Amino acid sequence: MSTPVRNPSANATFDVAWVRSQFPSLQTQVNGHPAAFLDGPAGTQVPTQVIHAIQNYLLTSNANTGGAFLTSRRTEEIISHARAAMADFFHCDKDEVIFGQNMTTITFAVSRAIARELKAGDEILLTTLDHDANYSPWKALEEKGIVIRTVDIREDDCTLDLDDLKRKLNEKTRLIAVGYASNSVGTINPVAEITRLAHAAGAMIYIDAVHYAPHGLIDVQSLDCDFLVCSPYKFFGPHMGALYGKRQHLQTFRPYKVRPCSDQLPDRWESGTQIHELIAGIGAAVEYLAELGRRCDTSVKSRREALAAAYHSTVAHETSLIWRLIDGLKKIPNCRIYGLTDPQRSAERSSTLSLRIGHHHPTAIATFLGERGIFTWDGNYYALNLSERLGVESQGGMLRIGLVHYNTPDEVDRLLAALRGFGSR
Ligand SMILES: Cc1ncc(COP(=O)(O)O)c(C=O)c1O
Repeated sequence: MSTPVRNPSANATFDVAWVRSQFPSLQTQVNGHPAAFLDGPAGTQVPTQVIHAIQNYLLTSNANTGGAFLTSRRTEEIISHARAAMADFFHCDKDEVIFGQNMTTITFAVSRAIARELKAGDEILLTTLDHDANYSPWKALEEKGIVIRTVDIREDDCTLDLDDLKRKLNEKTRLIAVGYASNSVGTINPVAEITRLAHAAGAMIYIDAVHYAPHGLIDVQSLDCDFLVCSPYKFFGPHMGALYGKRQHLQTFRPYKVRPCSDQLPDRWESGTQIHELIAGIGAAVEYLAELGRRCDTSVKSRREALAAAYHSTVAHETSLIWRLIDGLKKIPNCRIYGLTDPQRSAERSSTLSLRIGHHHPTAIATFLGERGIFTWDGNYYALNLSERLGVESQGGMLRIGLVHYNTPDEVDRLLAALRGFGSR
């Protein structure tokens, strides 16, 4: 159940008004317009319970870990609770969850640790579709004689070229680093299949689930992946990163750490003081999603089931929004959409896309929209290889629209009207 069924009819129990009432920042106004946060892929807003958890931690539990006194013990309990929540989120054991500053920092740390066990001539497969945070940390290993190969995309629909991947995968491949979903064009990669291919070739897989995490239920057990990383600030939590690693890998690979830091899991991968208040917020973000799931399906029992129910509903909501958007964009003259636009292949995309309108600079469009309270993103969003491959990097990249579960059909319609207005100026 790594990729939930994208079925718009399953949306009956999704209450977007309740969802929006949980996010106080959605009330922001810009020049008299209500803000429409269509910038989810750069970071989502947070519900009240995340804000409270961070505040409560600082009010009642602020301390370092390992002390023989009340607030230190409370800190450990809060971290333990957040770790258990993330274990449900990933569907793994608690000690397989590692917290870190952000996905990029975690990935540099893991790539360096893995590199200690590699030798010159070993190969790593990367992709053109990935965010640079799942590219540069591995590409840097060329310094050690590691051979980097990069899997291409199919340009027409911005999907990964699996034939190219199969051609480049060989007995020297030690690892495939691949995104679960593209933060630029929304493509969802067949990561279960890629994991099988990697393992059949004797390689590991490192999955960047940063963009996927707000859009679909993650199940590291059913994927059988070696590592998977995400950033809670993209799924309604605070600005941090979190990693799943298979226990055997977390035990075997040697992270760079200070000597007094315990060699037990998960401590050996969390050398130094963590951002405790934000870890408290991560636990609350998962709890928020679980609460949403319990509202969507009152029969669920465990937190994991509640998370599955939440995603079942949010995916359906997001799916209806993205097709409303794509249908509208197709009617705007000179609008080119980057990403899948075939409704038959809805399950292969998330509710994120990029576009260009004629020769207009994406920053000009984003600024025009921003003045009207519509928040989008422009540029390459660090998916640099893709921007270059699509030939838009030298022209300001693209404009990205990312819809999450708190967005509404009205916001999509407002965006479409504003884009029409921009085009007809
Ligand atoms: C797909 C993807 N991967 C990785 C990252 C980097 O994440 P972080 O900001 O946590 O380092 C991002 C950030 O936008 C992203 O969208």
